[in-house]
Amino acid sequence: MKKLELHLHLEGAAPPSFIRGLAQEKRVDLSGIFDERGSYAYDGFEDFLRVYEAATSILTTPQDYARLLAEVLERCAEEGVIYAELFVSPEFCGGADLGAWRDYLAAMVEVADRMRAQGIDSRGIVTCIRHFGAERARKTAICAAETAGGWITGFGMGGAEGVGKATDYDWSFDCAKEAGLGLTCHAGEWGGPESVRQALDLGCTRIGHGVRAIEDGQLVRDLAEQQILLEVCPGSNIALGVYPAWDRHPIARLADAGVRVSVSTDDPPFFHTTMRHEYNRLADVFGWGDEEFAQINRWAADAAFCDEATRDRLR
Ligand code: ADE
Ligand code: ZN
Repeated sequence: MKKLELHLHLEGAAPPSFIRGLAQEKRVDLSGIFDERGSYAYDGFEDFLRVYEAATSILTTPQDYARLLAEVLERCAEEGVIYAELFVSPEFCGGADLGAWRDYLAAMVEVADRMRAQGIDSRGIVTCIRHFGAERARKTAICAAETAGGWITGFGMGGAEGVGKATDYDWSFDCAKEAGLGLTCHAGEWGGPESVRQALDLGCTRIGHGVRAIEDGQLVRDLAEQQILLEVCPGSNIALGVYPAWDRHPIARLADAGVRVSVSTDDPPFFHTTMRHEYNRLADVFGWGDEEFAQINRWAADAAFCDEATRDRLR
């Protein structure tokens, strides 16, 4: 079954073997972030962010990002993904310096173009990091706005949802919106319904995760009515402890209430998941079949940050 993936962090999709290989090439000791089986080792969300940033610190050149994107898109294609939107942060690509970011982006676009010819289409969503603060987010938004169009079609925010309010970053989201970028923001993963409302106040048409909206019936109705898409990553939520088990996850209840949802892996190697695994669990636990998966594909296509002709092809 063809799959669309709208919520995938490029750095978070780096296989441990890729990061270990790069560390060896650069003679940097990163052994502390791996367990004895070679997987990423972390304990809870804060620690996950620390390990994520430590792994990312080995990606220091445009060529590193190009190699990473090629590896990640190849894996996407193996999972039956025909279209992926990747979060990528100029913060990690040269410290949100516009000149450096252009170099990193050019290297990634070359790979994305090559991979498109091999059947996997992609777009980039420039992402600021909430716990790095509003000032750094501004620099990131400028990088996004200056390189909007082409491969970069969206702007978003990840990182620690507990830091400040989403609306503290309104300048950045306004800047990205004026440049014509689609907007999405991580919310309702660690924060409750109020956090999701703040992301809506930023002008987002999609919410990263958004699952804790289920705690507020009025918000669920508003999301359904406004056709906001939730980029749901069930395996991520379970691995990080947002929900204790698959059968407690609200994705099916949200969809049943008319909220548009898509399915993604977030940071697959960190959560020992793949798109096939997510689909299989949804089929096993909620009885989802062809009809439900076709519906989430249509919803994802409708909400994708791409041109109408591409959207039509994806539906
Ligand atoms: N960055 C990468 N994965 C994330 C997640 N699940 N939540 C917030 N920020 C992230
Ligand atoms: Zn995410």
